[in-house]
Amino acid sequence: MQTHEIVRRFSQHFVSAGHTPVPSASLILDDPTLLFVNAGMVQFKPYFLGDAPPPYPRATSIQKCVRTGDIDEVGKTTRHNTFFQMAGNFSFGDYFKEGAITHAWNLVTGSQDAGGYGFDPDRIWVTVYETDDEAIALWKKVAGLPDERIQRRDGLDNYWDMGVPGPGGPCSEIYYDRGPEFGKDGGPVVDEDRYLEIWNLVFMQDVRGADSPKYGHPPIGTLPKKNIDTGMGVERVAYLLQGVENVYETDLVRPVISRAEEFSGRRYGASHEDDVRFRVIADHARSGVMIIGDGVTPSNEGRGYVLRRLLRRIVRSARLLGVNEPVLASFAEVVRDEMAPTYPELESGFERIAAVVTAEEEAFLQTLTSGSRIFDTAVAATKKTGKLVLPGDDAFQLHDTYGFPIDLTLEMAAEAGLQVDQDRFRVLMQEQRDRAKADAKARKVGHGDGSVYRTVLDAHGSTEFLGYTLLEAEATVVGLLVDGVATPAATTGQKVEVVLDRTPFYAEAGGQQADHGVLRGASFVVRVDDVQSPVPGLRVHRGVVTDGEVSLDSSVIAEVDRGRRAAISRAHTGTHLVHAGVRGALGTSAAQAGSLNAPGRLRFDFTSPSGAVSPTTLGEIEDEINSVLQENREIQAYETSMDEARKLGAMMLFGEKYGDRVRVVDMGEYSRELCGGTHVGRTGEIGMIKVLSEGSIGSGVRRVEALVGLDAFRHVSAEHVLVTSLADQLKAKPEELPERVASLVERLRLAERDLEKVRADAALASAGTLAAAAEDVDGVALVAAEAPAGVSGNDLRSLAADVRTRLGSRPGVVALFAPADGKVSFVVATTAAARDRGLAAGKLVPAFAGPIGGRGGGKPDLAQGGGTDPAGVSDAIAALRSALRG
Ligand code: SER
Repeated sequence: MQTHEIVRRFSQHFVSAGHTPVPSASLILDDPTLLFVNAGMVQFKPYFLGDAPPPYPRATSIQKCVRTGDIDEVGKTTRHNTFFQMAGNFSFGDYFKEGAITHAWNLVTGSQDAGGYGFDPDRIWVTVYETDDEAIALWKKVAGLPDERIQRRDGLDNYWDMGVPGPGGPCSEIYYDRGPEFGKDGGPVVDEDRYLEIWNLVFMQDVRGADSPKYGHPPIGTLPKKNIDTGMGVERVAYLLQGVENVYETDLVRPVISRAEEFSGRRYGASHEDDVRFRVIADHARSGVMIIGDGVTPSNEGRGYVLRRLLRRIVRSARLLGVNEPVLASFAEVVRDEMAPTYPELESGFERIAAVVTAEEEAFLQTLTSGSRIFDTAVAATKKTGKLVLPGDDAFQLHDTYGFPIDLTLEMAAEAGLQVDQDRFRVLMQEQRDRAKADAKARKVGHGDGSVYRTVLDAHGSTEFLGYTLLEAEATVVGLLVDGVATPAATTGQKVEVVLDRTPFYAEAGGQQADHGVLRGASFVVRVDDVQSPVPGLRVHRGVVTDGEVSLDSSVIAEVDRGRRAAISRAHTGTHLVHAGVRGALGTSAAQAGSLNAPGRLRFDFTSPSGAVSPTTLGEIEDEINSVLQENREIQAYETSMDEARKLGAMMLFGEKYGDRVRVVDMGEYSRELCGGTHVGRTGEIGMIKVLSEGSIGSGVRRVEALVGLDAFRHVSAEHVLVTSLADQLKAKPEELPERVASLVERLRLAERDLEKVRADAALASAGTLAAAAEDVDGVALVAAEAPAGVSGNDLRSLAADVRTRLGSRPGVVALFAPADGKVSFVVATTAAARDRGLAAGKLVPAFAGPIGGRGGGKPDLAQGGGTDPAGVSDAIAALRSALRG
């Protein structure tokens, strides 16, 4: 049975049992506790907790899920996927255990002719939470399961929660026995490979606190109602119903393996090692594409990092299969073809997806090339000291600077016969993570941990935001923190965080920088330098008490710095215009990937499937948006429903979670965007937008930077002054400058070339002096010296040959050294008479190479080479001298 059919039957089964079909949520939900959506219930969490009334009593969904916790198991077991689809049915205070068990049993064992999956009931086993007698009784009653196929397990296996405080409950899992050839008898408690879990029924009834009931801690409360949350692993059911060996060989995944077979010329099924690589590729290609489809781009943190890791593991696995050409875009195509029937956004957004994977692959291949050089040097250095372990510091540098995954370093080191000091590597990684964490925390949350802010939020509710219309307002201090600790009062000089019941201050969000300003009380002043929203709903003013003593419950006049706000608003409106201009010129696949709205300047990042934007196009965009400024359009901001906004064609950001009510910022047909930021009233207020640059910031993402308003004008004006002064100096008209400069550069280049030649000639002319200074070493004329500055390469060889000629028929040895840039090259030449005495140039090299860390060789008459230690030249000369004596 094909996967699409399995999914169809699931939906049909539950829809006909009164469930509302709900589309899969994006993999990216605005839940700070989750990197990716990893279960069907995530989008329903507020209904379980009673935070929002459920719009339906029963629901069913096929949820896309990503779990990367077991990434190292992928390909090695039969059942680990980083991307999978979870089919689920949900009851919000409607049916409970009996309903869940009955629905699941009927679908699993119902005959295929009647729309079920047709699993043999005699091969079904279930597990239940250790004390859940009720579930045991129901399995007997509903399914007629015998005692021996119902197993009790403790919380670790049969209690489910989201891994963080929130809803949870005991669960009951359904397993299918694949047969004795796959493992030991004794049910799931004995062998989870032979007995494969296909469905988890969670009896959602508890609120879990900081510690999970999984580990025996009691729940801290009960949910308002008893609910059901189930999750059936679609790939697992597919693997059983399709009679294949594992989840990677199911109909939607296996085609990627076939594509990898074509690339590599190797066959899947021929060797275990290669098979694991094929499966890693197939699994990761799917998760990578699905994640990019939901708007993530590769980066070095958070989701972007997970994505980067997945993509790089594919490239790496392909290389281990002997493929050196780019593969990702081709694998992505296969994934699109398999998955687009269910997820049409993969079809429509494919250009963008392909651009992202291609850019990432190029970057990684470059990494591999430059990193390999560093790696080789590190290996050489290690071997030179006679050690067999590559220092952890080198492995860390490779990882940190060159993005070399540690497994790559390990593998390459093994190939070079070395081990890696992994303990040291781990210590360095941990230190780096700690630094990053401390940084991120200090940036986002300030000193306090989230709970301090949550306490304020619980006690006083959200901060009312007045800043769309007011820049000054009366308010009351409802929260006051010093060093992250709640405090009743703070005095002059102290750094504080102040929460007001209402505020005109804009907290940094959506790329818009925070307002600055002052909070003025009857007997104090607080200067506000930053405003953040560490927990949703709360606005925290950060700053310093510059006068008097501020205390809780004080009344204040909150005054926003108007100049700064106006400049930021101009930039924000400017960003919308740039966005609209870029989309107009490049098409809808140019999607916003980030932005910054600061006083007088803006940054707009977007994914660009077609690479760099040409200067001409950029100029046209700039022209167009400046003419929109001149039209002086009115900017309207209004709230509306999400549906209405969609109908209006408002632009929305990938991966952003919007509620049902949204705010639209509207400049007529030219630009209409969902946005919570502040803007100018009319486009004319901006005055002018000057684009400064456009460039890549990696991974298919481009960045436009621009100046806005007076800053733009001042920039243009300063450039004008610059051009005028250059024109003056060069005695040319401004429009002649490019040509004039080009011709100057060319003349300079020719002059340098001539100079170089004169220098070399002069150096060569030193041959006479060098030959005259030959010293006699046991009857051999030795010329061993540093070559004159500037002589290298061919010139060094000619100089040595010239000196040799001048030594005539005498036995003579010429050794010239040319140090440059921390290295040293050398040439050794011998006269015929010296060779008759057995002095061969090539054989002399080892005699003096040691002190300069050098290597080299050649023929009896001429040898050359190089070393890494220029400081050792005089020792090398001395060594050569004593070698001749010996
Ligand atoms: N939430 C449960 C799970 O993820 C069942 O859907 O297993």
